[in-house]
Amino acid sequence: MFVKHLSLANFRNYETAEVSFEPGVNLLVGPNGQGKTNLVEAIRYLSTLSSHRVAGYLPLIRNAQPPIAQAIIRALAHHDGRDALLELELNRDSQNRARINKANATRVRDILGYVNTVTFAPEDLDIIKKDPSNRRAFIDELLVQVSPRFAGVFTDYERVLKQRNTLLRTARQTGAKGTSLSTLDAWDESLIKFGSEIVAARVALVERIRPLLTEAYQAIAIANNEPRVLVKSSLLGASVSEDDDAEGLEYIESADTAEVAEQYRAKLQAVRGKELERGITMVGPHRDDLVLLLSTLPAKGYASHGESWSFALALRLASINLLRGETRSGDPVLILDDVFAELDAGRRARLAELVAGNEQVLITAAVGEDVPEQLKARVLNVKAGVVTNG
Ligand SMILES: Nc1ncnc2c1ncn2[C@@H]1O[C@H](COP(=O)(O)OP(=O)(O)O)[C@@H](O)[C@H]1O
Ligand SMILES: [Mg+2]
Repeated sequence: MFVKHLSLANFRNYETAEVSFEPGVNLLVGPNGQGKTNLVEAIRYLSTLSSHRVAGYLPLIRNAQPPIAQAIIRALAHHDGRDALLELELNRDSQNRARINKANATRVRDILGYVNTVTFAPEDLDIIKKDPSNRRAFIDELLVQVSPRFAGVFTDYERVLKQRNTLLRTARQTGAKGTSLSTLDAWDESLIKFGSEIVAARVALVERIRPLLTEAYQAIAIANNEPRVLVKSSLLGASVSEDDDAEGLEYIESADTAEVAEQYRAKLQAVRGKELERGITMVGPHRDDLVLLLSTLPAKGYASHGESWSFALALRLASINLLRGETRSGDPVLILDDVFAELDAGRRARLAELVAGNEQVLITAAVGEDVPEQLKARVLNVKAGVVTNG
């Protein structure tokens, strides 16, 4: 698929914007802080209904005095000979709303599945090097695009988690008594229901991406290290991590929701005393992690800068192939946000070769000269929230 046109109103630093894109490569050029990432973020938001930069959506509404009530993202997406007009209203004080081809969508998440994206950016090194939340965000963003109904499962899980945490905190303060414990049992069942779905789906998705990752890594790295990805889960074993640190967790292999639910239930029972002591939910997908290995060593802590970079890029290229194969919208829009400045000439050329065939590629750069010649098809200039043809 590709995005033909994007309209923004009060999104980030854009008061309004009307931007036409072509299939193939589109290059957004402008100094830092002008709105290049904001523009591609709007498209990315349509593909997951979440931002990689912030929790919640309020920061996406243009900041002004008096406060602005609503941001709008509108995109005309094209796939397989057909256009779809997608409109998303982000409302400060009321529920968000979506329209598809001018008809109101029942649920906002019905808008998912029309625009798919894969973004590669320097922050992707965090997936390799930093804490588990970065790796969960990677796999969950992909999961929501492959199976949009998971947007709802994540929302449900987070809601239950929040309420269960409140209950645990209250129980800690007041001393756990009969009624609060039976209420806790009820929340446990909801937690298990949504949480097991997430854990099982992550395991299944990791299995499917594994061969694509090997293939992608071989295409970009000169060394023949084998990249591997596995899931570590707080649902297994006896230990609990005190904070969001997956060090002591065990590998999980089951992608069977019912089986995962049994493991989850048993673990919750085993750690209940600890959870009441701490006043927080200590097991579940919010505490799980992906382990990225190069041959047998964890990439985190062992991989060189170059290897980490290759691994991160391989994860994104594998994501493209996965989405192409598993979704009805074919090629996702590939977003390369500020990556060329960081690469030497050889790697730039290599990356250009790897991405040139994608149906649509959106590239941002502070300096046009950093982008290889063969990717300079069409240039748009971005300055202070205004986009003009270059
Ligand atoms: N909600 C918002 N309202 C107004 N300005 C915003 C909002 N969110 C971000 N910005 C501004 O957008 C700018 C960053 O834009 P960005 O797209 O990241 O720049 P770049 O061109 O470097 O990619 C910053 O100046 C930031 O203050
Ligand atoms: Mg940027």
